[in-house]
Amino acid sequence: MSTRLTLVRGDITQQSVDAIVNAANSSLLGGGGVDGAIHRRGGPEILAACRALRASHYGKGLRTGQAVATTAGRLDARWVIHTVGPRYSTDTDRSGLLASCYRESLRVADELGARTVAFPAVSAGIYGWPPADAARIAVETVRATETAVEEIRFVLFDARAYDAFAAQVG
Ligand code: AR6
Repeated sequence: MSTRLTLVRGDITQQSVDAIVNAANSSLLGGGGVDGAIHRRGGPEILAACRALRASHYGKGLRTGQAVATTAGRLDARWVIHTVGPRYSTDTDRSGLLASCYRESLRVADELGARTVAFPAVSAGIYGWPPADAARIAVETVRATETAVEEIRFVLFDARAYDAFAAQVG
């Protein structure tokens, strides 16, 4: 089955999809950017689930490039898939880790049976990734990943990220 790639400019917390991907940090305990917005709108159930995951499986936190799912609390979505993007570095090429975020999130989505998944531009905010590069890695990786997900929706908050993704999706 082929997967549709769609682009939306807006707020990922408002999307009606099966799963929303969160650009989290390894603590899983919240932060700013899209992470803050998801916890604010989704309510305390998400943080409680994250704390439980820390206690049960991720004592040292979730590693960069990995992904794990929780409830989506009060959001329309059923699940939030938390992934930890790499911080941008001019010294080290971390694009493999950024690609891993997309691949691992889709693997978790398949395990859950999610058919529609929304992604933000992971690492392209606080973690400093240049939007064009972040968009290229995101789009190339999801196109190369085998998945039963029917729609992958990139939800871009700002015009710069939207334009960068639009240039890749064509
Ligand atoms: N919907 C969609 N995209 C959003 C939203 C939103 N509501 N809010 C921001 N963005 P960032 P990162 C965009 O900083 O770079 C957190 O503190 C934003 O404009 O959220 O991976 C975490 O806890 C940008 O294009 O994530 C980590 O510590 C993109 O989402 C750290 O930030 C990603 O920006 C992760 O940094």
